[in-house]
Amino acid sequence: MSFSIDQFRLPGKVAIVTGAGGRGNSIGRAYAMGLARAGAAVVVADIHAQGAKTVCDEIIAAGGKAISVGVDITKPDSAAHMVGVATDAFGGVDILVNNAALMVEVVAHQAASISIEDWNRILSVNLTGALICAQAVIPGMRARGGGKIVNQLSGGAFPAMSVYGVSKLALYGLTTTLARQLGPERINVNAIAPGNTMSDAGRQLTPDDSPFIKFLEASVAMRVRGEPDELVGALLLLCSPAGDWITGQVIHVDGGWILRP
Ligand SMILES: NC(=O)c1ccc[n+]([C@@H]2O[C@H](COP(=O)([O-])OP(=O)(O)OC[C@H]3O[C@@H](n4cnc5c(N)ncnc54)[C@H](O)[C@@H]3O)[C@@H](O)[C@H]2O)c1
Repeated sequence: MSFSIDQFRLPGKVAIVTGAGGRGNSIGRAYAMGLARAGAAVVVADIHAQGAKTVCDEIIAAGGKAISVGVDITKPDSAAHMVGVATDAFGGVDILVNNAALMVEVVAHQAASISIEDWNRILSVNLTGALICAQAVIPGMRARGGGKIVNQLSGGAFPAMSVYGVSKLALYGLTTTLARQLGPERINVNAIAPGNTMSDAGRQLTPDDSPFIKFLEASVAMRVRGEPDELVGALLLLCSPAGDWITGQVIHVDGGWILRP
C-alpha cells in the first residue's frame, strides 16, 4: 500500500479528550479542535462540565461533530458514564486522549514534606485517572478491532524533579505497559511529552519574567515555549492510521527541552 496524506485523517472515528474544558486556552481544547478538524467526532470531557460544553459548542460552530460530558476521571463510574455518552452519541470509542491532570495547583509540593493525602490525590488524577479511563474504553476498542490511546506526559518527567514529574514519569510506565499488553489487540498506546506550553495554565505556571524561563532560554536547543496548537500534529500522527505501527513511544514536542545540558 502506498502512502496517502489521507492516512492522517480521522473520518468516522470517535475520540474522547479528557481535561478539554477547564481553562479557556488549554491543550485539551487544542487537541479536541484538532481531532475534530481531522474528521473525528469528539467527546469533550472535563470535571468542569460547563467548560467542556463551551469547547464542544466551538467545535460544532466550526462545522465539527462533538458532544460534551462532565467527568471525574478518578471515579470508575464517572468514566463509564463518559464512555456511555460517547457510545450513545457516536456508536463507540476509537481514540482516548488522557490529557486531564493536576498541574499548576500541585507543582509547588516538596516530596520531603507533602502529605500522603496530597500525594495520593495527585497520583489518583495524573496516573490512576488515566488507567481508569483506559479501562473504560478498552473493552469497546477490542470489540471494534483496535484503537489508539495517547497519554499526556510532560518534559517535567525527564528527569522527574517534582512530585508532578513523578506522576508523569509513572504515566510513562503505564504507557509502555499498556502498549506491551494491548499490542496484540491492535490498540496502540503512546504518549506526548510537551515542553513549556502557553496554555492559560502554562502561562500561570511560568510567566514571561520567570527566572526558570530565562534559565531555559539559555539552554534549550531550539525554542523554550510552544503553543497548544503546536502539539496537535504529533497527536494526529499517534491517533491516525499514519501511526498504526507506532506503540509504546513518547514524542517530545518541546523545541529541544529534552536535549538541555
Ligand atoms: N502547559 C504546559 O506547559 C504543559 C507542559 C507539559 C504537560 N502539560 C500537560 O498537558 C495537559 C493539559 O495541560 P494544560 O496546560 O491545558 O492545563 P489545564 O489545567 O488547563 O488542563 C488540565 C485539565 O484537567 C482537568 N481535570 C483536572 N482534574 C480532573 C479530573 N479529576 N477529572 C477530569 N478532568 C480533570 C482540569 O479541569 C483541566 O481542564 C496536562 O496533562 C498537563 O500536565 C502541560
